[in-house]
Amino acid sequence: MRIVKVFDTTLRDGEQMPGVSMPPFYKVQIARALDRLGVDVIEAGFPSASKGEFESVKTIASLGLNSEICGLARIIREDIDSAIKADVDMVHIFTPTSRIQIEYTLKLSYDEILARSIECVEYIKSHGLKCMFSAMDATRTDFEFLKKIYKAVEEVGVDVVNIPDTVGVATPFRFYELVKKLREDLRVEMDVHCHNDFGLAVANTYAAVLAGANEVQVTVNGIGERAGNASLEQVVMILHSIEGIKTNIKTELLFDTSKLVERLTGIKMPPNTPIIGENAFSHESGIHAHGVLKETSTFEPGILKPEMVGHRRRIVIGKHAGRYQIKRILEDSGYSVGEEALNKIFEKVKEMGDKGKKVTDRDLFTIAEIVLGEIMTDKRAVEVDEITVITGNKVTPTAVVNAKVFGDKRVASAIGVGPVDASLKAVLQLVGGKMQIREFKLDAITGGSDAIAEVYITVEDESGNIFTSRGASQDIVMASFDAVINAVNFLLRGRKK
Ligand code: KIV
Ligand code: ZN
Repeated sequence: MRIVKVFDTTLRDGEQMPGVSMPPFYKVQIARALDRLGVDVIEAGFPSASKGEFESVKTIASLGLNSEICGLARIIREDIDSAIKADVDMVHIFTPTSRIQIEYTLKLSYDEILARSIECVEYIKSHGLKCMFSAMDATRTDFEFLKKIYKAVEEVGVDVVNIPDTVGVATPFRFYELVKKLREDLRVEMDVHCHNDFGLAVANTYAAVLAGANEVQVTVNGIGERAGNASLEQVVMILHSIEGIKTNIKTELLFDTSKLVERLTGIKMPPNTPIIGENAFSHESGIHAHGVLKETSTFEPGILKPEMVGHRRRIVIGKHAGRYQIKRILEDSGYSVGEEALNKIFEKVKEMGDKGKKVTDRDLFTIAEIVLGEIMTDKRAVEVDEITVITGNKVTPTAVVNAKVFGDKRVASAIGVGPVDASLKAVLQLVGGKMQIREFKLDAITGGSDAIAEVYITVEDESGNIFTSRGASQDIVMASFDAVINAVNFLLRGRKK
């Protein structure tokens, strides 16, 4: 079975993304996550770029991870020495090779570039380290020179040659041809590094693998210079699921790794991002959700399932919701709905959707409860008697909640960064502190200071069950409090003390 290696450059090219700059502590967390994920090589940074960068690379190299640690360097002795001092396993050297980049950035002749590259590879190899060589802007480089320089470094023992599409101008067919032609002349391991200026980074990387590349250079979430790099998650899943080509990636960790990188870089992925986006396995429209509830591969690829990448499937209730979908969601939550009730519930959901309102899970259950005449109040696990919230410029925001939980009187208190935070924390404490707020959204505040505030809260319990609930009040604290109590009550349904 064919295995393709994964070279991750999230900490180097990914960090070159405008707006991303991570303290060493964050980089260490990401390096550990990449190691757990199973990437073969972690490009930890560009050690000569700054003192801080040197320290981060050195720290990552000292962690004893299974992944090999690589440092980037120009074809300059000081750069290479800095990488060697940082104790990396591999030095990745690069030089411009296209006429335009040589003319405007390097000002060396082709022969000088060739000679320096050979010298640098020999120098790195004489230190017993692995060496990767990149001909920067390879896709705009004269082919004969490209072949010549790759052959020259191969002859002096380079371990891997990388073919970068530095400005993202390759297309899958052309890149396939380029890699194939180079593959015919080179024995050395071949890696590709694609940028996403035309949205083709993943497609080009995939084409290169089909043409014979045995390593892919990628970043988590596709972050990187300008429009970014090829996304690790997409490339890996295309190889695994479509081509049956393996990598050493533990695919079930992809979602969590992506979330960690989102958090630590501050770059959030749009909901429709393949593989790891919030909507990647969400179904809203009636026909699709109906199909998926019966057999998931009706409206999903089948060869790509949420559990394969550590994600989850979601059925979203919206104005496209179908009867079957609503019935199934209600029945899964313990409501038995006959034909007449279902029609009424369905009409109300449509009405809300047409008014542009989000129909949360809680809305659907409230509608169902009203329609079915099953007012659930007496069955609620948490019955609040009193909530007191104190805030001000000289006091730490504090909330105290008195409530009955499964009939037992309890009091919980918490402090927070503000009154809302304090009251949410107090509620979570009231029910044992194992649930977590996953999302908080304040919506629809219009008009004056007495206008209605609408709060959406998503809570997750210790088993990973998720519930989104809404609260509305003229008081933001009470809107938030009602929303969290509803969510907690829903998640506790059916449980005993
Ligand atoms: O895009 C590029 O060419 C690079 C090189 C350093 C490989 O990032
Ligand atoms: Zn790059």
